[in-house]
Amino acid sequence: MILDRFELERMQSEWEHRVEYNLSESGVKPMHIRDFVDTEKLQNQLLDIELGYSQTNGTLDLREAISYHYPGTTAEHIIATNGGAEANFLTTWWLRKENPDRDELVFMIPNYMQIGGIWKNLGGKVIPFKLELKNDVWNPDIDGLKASVTSKTAAIAICTPSNPTGKILSESDLRTIVAIAKKNGAYVVSDEIYRGAELQEGKAPSVNGLADNVLITSSLSKAYGLPGLRLGWVVCPTLQAATELWTYSDYTTICPTKASDWLATLALSQEVQAKIEKRTRKVVRENWAIMEQWIDSHSSLLSGVAPEAAAICFIKLRDDIDSLDFTMRLLKEKSVLVSPGEHFDMPGFLRIGFGSEKEYLMPALERISELLKDYQ
Ligand SMILES: Cc1ncc(COP(=O)(O)O)c(C=O)c1O
Repeated sequence: MILDRFELERMQSEWEHRVEYNLSESGVKPMHIRDFVDTEKLQNQLLDIELGYSQTNGTLDLREAISYHYPGTTAEHIIATNGGAEANFLTTWWLRKENPDRDELVFMIPNYMQIGGIWKNLGGKVIPFKLELKNDVWNPDIDGLKASVTSKTAAIAICTPSNPTGKILSESDLRTIVAIAKKNGAYVVSDEIYRGAELQEGKAPSVNGLADNVLITSSLSKAYGLPGLRLGWVVCPTLQAATELWTYSDYTTICPTKASDWLATLALSQEVQAKIEKRTRKVVRENWAIMEQWIDSHSSLLSGVAPEAAAICFIKLRDDIDSLDFTMRLLKEKSVLVSPGEHFDMPGFLRIGFGSEKEYLMPALERISELLKDYQ
């Protein structure tokens, strides 16, 4: 086996449907189709879809609906994909192949490890730069980043709002990161899949429009609560980049499914999108209150910084507690699945997802409390 495994995804796929409580999910509780296909007219339109192949880069309607959310772009800048996972795959593959003389990817850590993992599996070198926790605030190590980006760097890959910390990179940090990349002839790939799941009013800043060296990946899986549609996208900085990425996507999944393309177009329409975002923000705000209280009640064993977005908290365990061992005990002894810090390149932490229904979240947290008694 020459590929490094994507440990986070493998652990989730192995266990998420077998445990009694799954707190490894990072999005909000998924919606049902009828929650937004809510008139007879829409329901009939859905039933009337002919299940042929869809347009390979997404229908024009879908790409227009996506580009509406990225001012300054057009449908031609968008490549629709099967989930954010394919968006990340295509982008990484394209960057690796089109920049043979630049074999380094500067990768924010902790992170959702997909882009770094693909880069490594394609024979590239991954250079980490840190999102550091200092005085209860996560901040990017900009000096470290400056030192890491060189003429060998193909791209800087960030995730904002961040998985697993929920940190939103500030507009000024984004501008600095983009400028560092630009100065070195590199791209920035910004995975913005949690944008729209902010706890406070206002949207997290995006790299959209900051320069012609930025690519954005995203999907409906997290902030929209629609992971089962498997509908994601890449926002390309130029029409040439979009044309090239489209060529790569011909080799992967050919096209998004026809039904998902239609449902996604509806979900992204202004009125429906606003309703979905309202639902998501309510869930993260209300459930964070539960989570925060739970964290406070175990302050001698763990601590957690409030996420600014996303239904996840990256919790620091007391130094003597092994996060992987704790996760496995939780799984085996209490039938609760969380994600260990090891899966984000940061041992000593646990990522707990709190986007489920309160009636589910609370007893699951109670089971973690039971195990924590052993460490008191
Ligand atoms: C940051 C990030 N990007 C991409 C993905 C993959 O998303 P999708 O389910 O849309 O493929 C995930 C899934 O957890 C994620 O956390």
